Amino acid sequence: MKYPLLSLLALFLPFASSSAENHHDWEDNHVLQINREPARAYFIPFGESKGDRMLSLNGDWLFRWTKTPDERIKDFYRTDFDASSWKTLAVPANWEVNGYGTPIYISAGYPFKIDPPYVMKEPKKEWTTYVERNPTGQYRRTFTLPAEWKEGQTFLRFEGVMSAFYVWINGQQVGYSQGSMEPSEFNITPYIKQGENQIAIEVYKYSDGSYLEDQDFWRFGGIHRDVLLYHTPDVRLRDVAVRTTQDKDGWTLAINPQFSVYKDETGEGYQLVATLMDGSSCVGCASVAASEVLDLQHKAARMNEWFPQRGHRKFNRMEIKVSNPRLWSAEHPNLYTLKLELKAPNGQTIENTRQQVGFRDIHIKNGQLLINGKAIKIRGVNRHEHDPYTARVMSEERMLQDLQLMKAAHINAVRLAHYPNCPRWYELCDSIGMYVMDEADCETHGLRGTLASTPDWGDAFLDRAIRMAERDKNHPSVIFWSLGNESGYGPNQAAMSAWLHEFDPTRPVHYEGAQGNPDPSTVDVISRFYPRVMEEYLNPGIPEGSDKERAENARWERLLEIAHRSGDRCTWVGSDGGPRPVLTSEYAHCMGNALGNFKEYWDEINSNPRMLGGFIWDWVDQGIIKREEVRGKTVEKVLYGGDFGDKPNLHAFCMNGVVMSDRTLTPKYYEVQTVYGEAAKLGGEVAEHPVPQSLPYKAKKSKKKPLPASLIPLVSSIKPQVYRAPTDNDKSFGNWLAKDWKRCGLDTLTIPMTTEQDGNEFTFTFEIPDSLPEIPRLGILIELPRDYEQLSWYGRGPWDNYPDRQQSCPIGLWKSTVSQQYVHYPRPQDSGNHEDCTMVELKTKKGKTLRIEAVDKAFSFSALPYSAQYLASKSHDYELQDQGKTYLSIDCAVMGLGNSSCGPGVLKKYTIDKTKKYQLRIRIL
Ligand code: GAL
Repeated sequence: MKYPLLSLLALFLPFASSSAENHHDWEDNHVLQINREPARAYFIPFGESKGDRMLSLNGDWLFRWTKTPDERIKDFYRTDFDASSWKTLAVPANWEVNGYGTPIYISAGYPFKIDPPYVMKEPKKEWTTYVERNPTGQYRRTFTLPAEWKEGQTFLRFEGVMSAFYVWINGQQVGYSQGSMEPSEFNITPYIKQGENQIAIEVYKYSDGSYLEDQDFWRFGGIHRDVLLYHTPDVRLRDVAVRTTQDKDGWTLAINPQFSVYKDETGEGYQLVATLMDGSSCVGCASVAASEVLDLQHKAARMNEWFPQRGHRKFNRMEIKVSNPRLWSAEHPNLYTLKLELKAPNGQTIENTRQQVGFRDIHIKNGQLLINGKAIKIRGVNRHEHDPYTARVMSEERMLQDLQLMKAAHINAVRLAHYPNCPRWYELCDSIGMYVMDEADCETHGLRGTLASTPDWGDAFLDRAIRMAERDKNHPSVIFWSLGNESGYGPNQAAMSAWLHEFDPTRPVHYEGAQGNPDPSTVDVISRFYPRVMEEYLNPGIPEGSDKERAENARWERLLEIAHRSGDRCTWVGSDGGPRPVLTSEYAHCMGNALGNFKEYWDEINSNPRMLGGFIWDWVDQGIIKREEVRGKTVEKVLYGGDFGDKPNLHAFCMNGVVMSDRTLTPKYYEVQTVYGEAAKLGGEVAEHPVPQSLPYKAKKSKKKPLPASLIPLVSSIKPQVYRAPTDNDKSFGNWLAKDWKRCGLDTLTIPMTTEQDGNEFTFTFEIPDSLPEIPRLGILIELPRDYEQLSWYGRGPWDNYPDRQQSCPIGLWKSTVSQQYVHYPRPQDSGNHEDCTMVELKTKKGKTLRIEAVDKAFSFSALPYSAQYLASKSHDYELQDQGKTYLSIDCAVMGLGNSSCGPGVLKKYTIDKTKKYQLRIRIL
């Protein structure tokens, strides 16, 4: 075939220009891809059995890494290039946890100098990118083409590469793609040969695409998801979309297939047969002729029918009616299997595809989100794809572990913050039962809304919405499309929303950044971050009775207030035109010892039908675990921002998980489990969770008696204590309570305390000087020898609890050890408190005992191997060393935890009222 010269030029122009001196495809927001296949649903076709037309390219590749693109070897892709001296790196793997370059944790603001679309301009000298300007990874390997893949088409598929890359096969450039969290496919048929083939990939950590990837996470480069090849016949099912809808006669499964033909094929005589299976029994079937769908002649009648001149396209190419299917929900994840067989004119099946189908529909009525007609509440968490050992590479085991832990905590929804996840995650959510908010990989935080309002970036925004929705459209678990995160609002998001609404009228669209008065009609739910409840918050520094609030609190809206506003209207086709549901897509910021007043959030959510629920920020700490040999023992150090010398960084702000980086459960997890469990029950779900069982206990109240002589020295060492090692919430970007504590030297301060003794009964009376700021605790400290290790108490347990986080902690008799009392958050801080206690007892191995009982009112206590001052002085858990003492704090009042590491502060009712007189009355035995 002859090509006119011009079109030939056009074909190669992007490559040609990529070699031009100053132009890089990866610094050009108009070049999103070269030669990439259109996006499609996730499936790998097969012949006889699953996987038989697929070849994984995971495993070891020859690898070379350089700090900058200039240092790369320009012709490394040549077949005659000798890479035998190169080291190997696994695919998938992130570079920075494998010894290549520095992981950088920044919350927002880009690791490179901002100058869109460029990423190579000179940043500040102290920044990591000053040296590692744009890390570049070059990969090479060979593969043997399966002998059966002679005819037909061969595709190369990447599930995720950060952030831009080129591909060569046998020395020829195949294409280019960007977008770290979306798949990229290339048809490599023209470039391959029988037998051994050589493949080369060049990956750039930063590209113009990185301007849309300014999420609050570690910046890791590399090929972090699977790479594979698959093979198809020359007539193939390229894509398929399914929808389930209900009418008065029952349910319909609508199937919309897309075919591709190659060489001289027209699809004439080929048929797609769809069979819906329930286990091994057939529920129904349908078929369609490939040529009809292809319509290569563009017949007017056919186009009029399917893509009319006016009005919407028609979707239902094939339909299977099922009168009474078992429906899909997160609670009951019933799945059917759709068998798709592509039959050649001779009736032979030439290609097989499977899709899991869940019958469910979504509507918004009266301000509520209905799944299959039933209003649901979102008991959600945000989740980053993070593994403390492998970074962004997620194993099947890790994903399963996350889902199982979530299910056990009655979490019913996950927001994929803030990008499409690896495809297996959705399959697991479909089968295990988890609602998913699928979010486009679009966050321009460091540029706020600038790019959202720059038309020139419209294609780049849209590309991400399209690739997400095309890939994930068939998953019943996906119940929302989200336009991204923290990117302002402008025509580019409006375009994404319009595209998604038209492409998929069956799902509502979310984007928290779409705010206004009213919120733009491009979103179908009203969404806010870190809202306040309606109750009064502590507002330090603001005079009592003033209607003013501290900026730290006032910046967060009251969700219930929004739900009470009238006049809002949902314009989504799946709605009744009533008001939009009100959601908090991020709340309960779980940084360190946190999750205060979680119950109050849910009291409000349950109080109003429009309150849809929320997604906790977030599921897992993003710590990186480094193994080190210390005195013959392997020690695991949990590291966070700055620990790699990464600059700029936002320290431990990536440690906000309900569970720790290695998925160790925390007291926060159990609080979520209890509160979400109650909410599930209210919603009519069966939600059983183990209530911690305390030991049987007969309260034998002792009487006043003389103080044993052995305890006299101990008692005389008792000191008042008003300080706790600041929690992340107490610090809140260094701007909250902890700053006042530091200013007034609260850590070493002794407040006036009078002690009255009557035998072994003590009354401590405290006066809080007016000059003091809000204090975190009020009580006494007893320092004991460290061999007081065995602990029992009657009060709230078994894990630690605070006035505003105690739903999972029943009152009872509990046993533990001092060593186990401290919760090892990666950044040391207060923990180990127990509320509502009437007895605490510490014992040594030799049987020496100290027992403290409440005389009238219950007290709070903690018994830790570290002092508050010591904890406050350390920045990493691995620095902590046993101090040789047991620190027993008995408090008559303790401040709650609140949410202020990113959110509103502590509720006033959970703070210490400085105007009140406090007494602690205990008996010491
Ligand atoms: C939100 C953001 C999250 C995370 C969180 C703080 O504003 O969407 O990605 O940064 O704050 O941990």
